[in-house]
Amino acid sequence: MTTSLGVISSGRGENLRYILHEERAGRLPARVRIVLTDQPDAGALRIAKEFCVPCHFIDPSNHRREEYDQKLIAHLEAEGVELVVLTGYMRILSSLFVRRYKDRILNIHPALLPSFRGMDAFSQALEYGVKWTGTTVHIVDEDVDHGPIVYQRPVPVLENDTHDSLKARIQRAEHKAYPHAIKMFIEGWPKVQGRKLVWQREEK
Ligand code: GAR
Repeated sequence: MTTSLGVISSGRGENLRYILHEERAGRLPARVRIVLTDQPDAGALRIAKEFCVPCHFIDPSNHRREEYDQKLIAHLEAEGVELVVLTGYMRILSSLFVRRYKDRILNIHPALLPSFRGMDAFSQALEYGVKWTGTTVHIVDEDVDHGPIVYQRPVPVLENDTHDSLKARIQRAEHKAYPHAIKMFIEGWPKVQGRKLVWQREEK
């Protein structure tokens, strides 16, 4: 069984590249059907084109959040998307969107949640002085960087780390962690019970 993915990104799209790489290598039982972005110059658009995946810039100007999300949903539904994957999507999803894809939206955050939610998790970790940080793949609920955790990968903070060196180390970890977590998720299709996931390990 191949699961249809829809990726939404605001940024560079490097996570998308690694997901597509694993998919094309036959190591991910999934197919990225569509890439959507709210930024006209998002790197994700270029990467989608490189891999011949349909992609669209959806202009957020002059739209209320729900109207905008309805447009995203229309594209995702047209492609039969079963699992939505956020990679550096910087807009908060409306309840409408979260309810439509309830427990079927994944996000990656560059810290070990619940530490360092929100913007610039790298600076937050450096300022706090933690010795370990990392990356978290979680299910998206209506609160930011909050939903049940699917997978985490720790990353050390080194003595002389700068913002950029820590960011690069965490992002290298993300490039392995996200495809791994997506595979686990698709193969296990967990039920959400509170903050816990109950893995089913059977067909959807
Ligand atoms: C990733 O580091 C991801 O964790 C972060 O944006 C980057 C996207 O990189 N997401 C967040 O901070 C969301 N809270 P990419 O565009 O190269 O995949």
